[in-house]
Amino acid sequence: MKRRLPKAGTVQIAPSILSADFANLASEIEQVVSSGIEIIHLDVMDGHFVPNITIGPPVVKWIRKCTDAVLDTHLMITDPGTYAERFIDAGSDHITFHIETVGQPAAFIEHLRSLGVTVGVTLNPETPAQAVRDIVPLCDMVLVMTVHPGFGGQSFIDEAARKCLQIRKWAGPDVRIEVDGGIDSETAPVVVKYGADTLVAGNAIFGRTDRQAAILAIRDALT
Ligand code: DX5
Ligand code: ZN
Repeated sequence: MKRRLPKAGTVQIAPSILSADFANLASEIEQVVSSGIEIIHLDVMDGHFVPNITIGPPVVKWIRKCTDAVLDTHLMITDPGTYAERFIDAGSDHITFHIETVGQPAAFIEHLRSLGVTVGVTLNPETPAQAVRDIVPLCDMVLVMTVHPGFGGQSFIDEAARKCLQIRKWAGPDVRIEVDGGIDSETAPVVVKYGADTLVAGNAIFGRTDRQAAILAIRDALT
């Protein structure tokens, strides 16, 4: 049974395990879930669409066994059509693909939905918002990249984040808008003002010794 994203409108922090200790993933995930985290962001890179390689379906399968959180799977891969189903079988609840990689996004969204998951589309910083205009209403969540994908710990690109303002108008209140890259207690309030409600944070959480204090710091900045 697939988990559903929390209802749109509530701000959620989605820790990205990219900066976590991969030799202790179960404990890393447990620490953030015990802070009330409901979404775990999984970064999948193929060394082709982006210049880095991360995890595949076997790792997702083991993560699935250690948490009930929503597994939000960000596919930074050239060929999501071939691999998405393997991630769904492994336990992903939500699949995000890059608009730059799919020729017929509306049909692909429908196909992914038929496999039981919620669906998101994302766009790189240099891709104009217009590229997703027609499919925003078909998505459960739109992911606005606020760094060039490939690595954790990069600096937030404000100009890319501003696309949330336009996308929120097309999305209405029921579609989540997620931001990814350089989110911390300084940039979190900025992106929420732009209309984002799902904040991926890697380095700002797993780059700190106390993961729970790191989550609190972001939450405090939002109040
Ligand atoms: C970047 C990934 C991000 C990354 C964010 O390519 O998609 O999810 O982990 O990391 P931070 O929060 O460190 O910028
Ligand atoms: Zn990501």
